[in-house]
Amino acid sequence: MSNHHVNHLISIVGPANVLVGEDVQSFATDYRGVFRGQALAVVRPASTAEVSAVVAYCNRNDIPVVPQGGNTSLLGGSVPDASGTAVLLSLTRLNQVRSVDSLNATMVVEAGVTLHAARAAAEKAGALFPLRIGSEGSCQIGGNLSTNAGGTAVLRYGNMRDLVLGLEVVLPNGEIWNGLRALRKDNAGYDLKHLFIGAEGTLGIITAAVLKMYPIPRAKCVAMLGSGSADHALEAFGLLRQRLGTDVTAFELISSDAMTLVLGYLGRQTSPLPTTHPWYVLVEMSSTSSQEMGEAAFYSALGELADKGMIDDAVIASNEKQATDFWLVREEISDAQTRTRGSVRCDISVPLSSIPRFIRETSAKVMAVAPATRMVIYGHVGDGNVHFNPLRPADMAPEDYLTRHGEAITKLVDDAAMALNGSISAEHGIGAAKCDALLHVRSQVELKLAWRVKRALDPANLMNPAKVLPLMPAD
Ligand code: FAD
Ligand code: LAC
Ligand code: ZN
Repeated sequence: MSNHHVNHLISIVGPANVLVGEDVQSFATDYRGVFRGQALAVVRPASTAEVSAVVAYCNRNDIPVVPQGGNTSLLGGSVPDASGTAVLLSLTRLNQVRSVDSLNATMVVEAGVTLHAARAAAEKAGALFPLRIGSEGSCQIGGNLSTNAGGTAVLRYGNMRDLVLGLEVVLPNGEIWNGLRALRKDNAGYDLKHLFIGAEGTLGIITAAVLKMYPIPRAKCVAMLGSGSADHALEAFGLLRQRLGTDVTAFELISSDAMTLVLGYLGRQTSPLPTTHPWYVLVEMSSTSSQEMGEAAFYSALGELADKGMIDDAVIASNEKQATDFWLVREEISDAQTRTRGSVRCDISVPLSSIPRFIRETSAKVMAVAPATRMVIYGHVGDGNVHFNPLRPADMAPEDYLTRHGEAITKLVDDAAMALNGSISAEHGIGAAKCDALLHVRSQVELKLAWRVKRALDPANLMNPAKVLPLMPAD
């Protein structure tokens, strides 16, 4: 039976683009090696028409479809379950930049264009596509849209949802919806594109998007700050924003344990600062004024932070190379954890004013449950987003730590975020890992509404099943 399906899929995309057997494994395992699934086949269409034909065939034959972009999801969203019944639909060959409109400040790109390539295409047109995340070399625009990715420039430009004007989507029955409108004003009815953004492939396959472009800032300043407490760091953010407004492009908090971990991973002795601090902040300012004017405002604001005791030290990158190097320290924290293994990854958000309290109280609770834990805490605190990732003590085996403490820590972190009116998933989505957790943090009204949407678009539950939503109750 499965041979029959494979032959039909080959007739759509060609033999080189249907992988089976051993070749499926690397696709069916997630980036971190935590989620390991199986698939009937990996299918790699090269056009929207081919995606449509594959999805329509799967729909007619009751075959689940798991879309996959760069496979960098941190929650298992992009890999199938272990049943081996699903088709894994890789979007990698939909990799064309279809058009760039400089005056309209938009470009139309296909879902499989990597974030790096999309940024390069904008740059070639003298513009900026501002989404910035550590996985940009691998992750794809379709994956960024499907997870509503955030990253390190959200303060200034918003999440992926804010960076898109139109979508092209293959619906679960194979129909193609061409919503590639490049309009900044368009109130003609429901704005349906938002259904598919952040849906993690559960409502259809995004095949192309109209993305917004921005002017390339003329001035850019990057600094690493040292601070005595998270309270002081957050006060520093408040003051910086008063002085520099939306020119504060990134404000990334890093705990001392996170800094120690990443320095070890990079084989370095010291952080960009000469002495150690309980907390570090990587701050970036960018503006369309001249570099001289930008620098003057940035230096003056940092001076004020020091005078007021909010920061204890600062080093400002003196050139682009040094700025890139500061950013490397920040962006490699995630991979340093992946390599070290044994961290409980929690991606929460709370209102900015509650961040210091969240960190203080939750760290104490974790320490009470699992003494000697390394408090790897970092993230986009200017957005209220903390990656709160307790890491095993150096002398404890990863599996041991996760088995003994993983569940308890996840629960206490999620509870703490909810108690402060926060979210259990700020930017990484729900994937396979957090479906059940939603049952505790969303009301019945909201869950029922979500299930109704899912049923309306995907009545047979074939699009990335068992992701994003908790199991649907029988009616
Ligand atoms: P995948 O992992 O392939 O897929 C993600 C989800 O989208 C899956 O559910 C998949 O089924 C679905 N999907 C993929 N393509 C499509 C499509 N075309 N149509 C419909 N559904 C689709 N995330 C952040 O938000 N901010 C960060 O700062 C950040 N930093 C990261 C750093 C590292 C080192 C890593 C490994 C990950 C990071 N992530 C971050 C998480 C991840 O990179 C992002 O979520 C990214 O947007 C996923 O893109 P992808 O192409 O790899 O998608
Ligand atoms: C980061 C990812 C893990 O911010 O979201 O590095
Ligand atoms: Zn992040």
